[in-house]
Amino acid sequence: MNTSAHRRDVYQRAADILTLNDRGHYTVPTSGLYPFQWNWDSCLVAIGQQQLDEARAWTELNTLFEHQWDDGMVPHIIFHVNDEGYFPGPEVWSTGRAIQTTGITQPPVAGFAASRLFERANDKVLARTQAAALLTRIDRWHEWFYRCRDPQDTGLVALIHPWESGRDNSIDWDKALAAVPTEGLQPYQRRDLQHTKADHRPTMAQYDGYISLVQHFRSLNWDNERLHDASPFRVVDPGFNAILIRSCSEIAALAEQLGEHDIATRNRDRAMAGLMAMESLWSEQHQQYVCYDRVAGEHVDSASVGGLLAAFADIPEARMHALAKRIDTLSSAVNFLIPSHDPADERYDGKRYWRGPAWLIINYLIADGLERGGFDSLVERIESASLQLIDESGFAEYYDPNSGEPCGGSTFTWTAAMVMEFLQQPAKAG
Ligand code: SER
Repeated sequence: MNTSAHRRDVYQRAADILTLNDRGHYTVPTSGLYPFQWNWDSCLVAIGQQQLDEARAWTELNTLFEHQWDDGMVPHIIFHVNDEGYFPGPEVWSTGRAIQTTGITQPPVAGFAASRLFERANDKVLARTQAAALLTRIDRWHEWFYRCRDPQDTGLVALIHPWESGRDNSIDWDKALAAVPTEGLQPYQRRDLQHTKADHRPTMAQYDGYISLVQHFRSLNWDNERLHDASPFRVVDPGFNAILIRSCSEIAALAEQLGEHDIATRNRDRAMAGLMAMESLWSEQHQQYVCYDRVAGEHVDSASVGGLLAAFADIPEARMHALAKRIDTLSSAVNFLIPSHDPADERYDGKRYWRGPAWLIINYLIADGLERGGFDSLVERIESASLQLIDESGFAEYYDPNSGEPCGGSTFTWTAAMVMEFLQQPAKAG
């Protein structure tokens, strides 16, 4: 059923989830499984939130940036409250801040989010003030990325922990994570399995790698001048870099409008260098981008959605066409676009977090890039698959791309925010 009344009802249910998970000045992804503020969740949620309350959307971003580190990093989790139901909590990270945060970062969608809020703002006065303040902070975060995560000046940044990618247990990290030493790992107890099914989540061996990396970085006092070179895990992710590149171009355009020409120039240069360097991640074999393992000095043989996410940046037209073709091919292998891994790969697992399931935020980011490239009918198919998943399975964290089964957490904020985005135009919402 696809009537206007139905679409309005779905929109309202999505808006209710944003309200349910709103903690006043930040939003949790879902209660129980993720009870704090997550970096890229917040930025994407702010975009949906703007449709309900513009000032509240700016607050979401401001709260995140209040916790920016002195070196420029914006952490991946802000532990605003105590919650025993999550592991690893602040005592494990031990980053020594008044309100505790983790010591790693996450995909920098903030530049894109701030620019989107600015473009769509009804309250232009508020938007100018908010955007001007955020601009400097986002520019500092970008500066941090290239200084601390690209010390050789390649134009691309590396991740030092799979959690930074947001795609925690992607097949992309299998080899690099297996090479992380786990001797000296202190005993620990996972809490995620109290909230969701074990076969939807990363394995114990993967958690051993995750926690070993945290312990290692903690022993280096979270000193970002040292962490990149000292990390046994350093992987360049095309999706992550595409988000950073797009964030740089968005900030450049925003800075130009606000008369901040130095910020504009710096970010345009970063985006251009990044786009040129992205070519080094192109795989002729897979006809998409792939990761590069800086420790092993080799490309990663893994056709994941990280390589397709490159469509979010202004990649060359021929590359965009190839990615669109890949997504079209994947659509014959699954019922619901876009699987986070190619089902033709024997390592694919349709229910396990980032090893196969479809995620609405990924659909949104890729659809946004494809729309800019003029691939309207493919965008339409991605949006319609996304909304069909909601109809069949509710607002889950992610979905099996074949059965449509809801996986991971439920009443999920960023899923709801993306639905509001897909339905937002009055013509679509009826
Ligand atoms: N996604 C991670 C978790 O599952 C942390 O960002 O806890």
